[in-house]
Amino acid sequence: MRILVVGSGGREHALVWKIAQSKLADKVFCAPGNGGIAQAAECVDIKTGNIPELLDFAKKEKIDLTVVGPEAPLALGIVDEFKNHKLSIFGPNKSASRLESSKVFAKELMVKYKVPTAGFDIFENAAEARKYIEEKGAPCVIKADGLAQGKGVIVAKTKEEAIDAVNLIMEKRVFSEAGNRVIIEECLEGEEASILVLTDSKEVIALASSQDHKRVFDNDQGANTGGMGAYSPAPIVTRELFKDIMERIIYRTIDGLSREGVDYQGVLYAGIMLTKQGPKTLEFNVRFGDPETEAILPRLKSDFLEVMLATAEGKLNKISKLGGLAWDNRVCVCVVCASKGYPGEYEKGKEIFGLDEAAGMKDIVVFHAGTKRENNKILTNGGRVLGVTGMGKSIKETIDQAYKGVEKIHFDGMHYRRDIGQKAIAL
Ligand code: AMP
Ligand code: GLY
Repeated sequence: MRILVVGSGGREHALVWKIAQSKLADKVFCAPGNGGIAQAAECVDIKTGNIPELLDFAKKEKIDLTVVGPEAPLALGIVDEFKNHKLSIFGPNKSASRLESSKVFAKELMVKYKVPTAGFDIFENAAEARKYIEEKGAPCVIKADGLAQGKGVIVAKTKEEAIDAVNLIMEKRVFSEAGNRVIIEECLEGEEASILVLTDSKEVIALASSQDHKRVFDNDQGANTGGMGAYSPAPIVTRELFKDIMERIIYRTIDGLSREGVDYQGVLYAGIMLTKQGPKTLEFNVRFGDPETEAILPRLKSDFLEVMLATAEGKLNKISKLGGLAWDNRVCVCVVCASKGYPGEYEKGKEIFGLDEAAGMKDIVVFHAGTKRENNKILTNGGRVLGVTGMGKSIKETIDQAYKGVEKIHFDGMHYRRDIGQKAIAL
């Protein structure tokens, strides 16, 4: 089979890496890919938002399955477009993608179908939002309705921070039309976990649980990022909690969508806060998590391409009948190495040293997130540069292994968290 993966981050490197291991895969392309992906797939210079060119490429190259990494092309309707041309594609259509592209849509769906989530109000007017904050006080969470590259959520400790967030989103329009509406949400407390499932809207198969580390600095300090590291499984998600999450969050959401006439096909990611009152949904993503994918996929023993194909074709029950997915019992820890300045303005073009040495280590995989190859050198080309995944028997030894891998690598201004996975040890 000929496969096209759309995207250029660490998640896409992990997808390409896993798909290339399938007995069904003859040739893997990635658009646009990055410096590391180029070692496992043929990179094609087409941007993820250029749907007409991606479509032309898929037709010309007789692609059997396209796998979409990021949310933006899904929200633009890449799946609808490919399906109109009878091309097989993994991911939800434009209507189903609203679960991520409109937080208001997701919240209203959750209320209608009794999916546990934080209490909230929706505002279309900045003055009303400010008045509400003055009355209700802080802490609270301000969320831009639309896609904002992971920056549209502000957890405000004080009224002033909350009002600043409303002004930024609704008056200064930093996320343009994504800020037409805001949600002001009750601030939840607890541990977070990511639950990802594959579904063709009839059948649901969960992937292994994981936990992300969203803040830039150790001990969850500093600004929110796309994710500074992850581990899988997340031991905090006990069997009982998992069952509860599946029943009250995942099934109700997929079923609710179906009742609204929306069939969901692809991967559904629920960001969950484990509160004292039980699991509550923080957000939905309509794609694989990054860096969760880099910690989950190395543990998957099943043929991933076969499973994705079954999902895209609406035949996921075939996989269930064969006994579902097989997982390696070992754990994975992924540490993200970021550029100086990330998650703010960051540097690019720094040479990366030690990659071969790290990648040559036992039980280490180095996934490239923001890199490019130039004159036989690998240079930094993004905020999150690499995801170094270690695999091992216990969480403690795996953390040590992952950091041994990280220590081999160096580039100017590189920073990373030193406490990835510590929460799992504490349990
Ligand atoms: P989201 O993009 O909605 O996942 O939000 C990013 C991060 O903001 C989450 O991972 C949480 O750490 C935090 N967050 C979002 N919503 C809430 C909430 N209602 N209460 C507390 N923290 C939240
Ligand atoms: N790691 C968080 C996300 O993928 O949205």
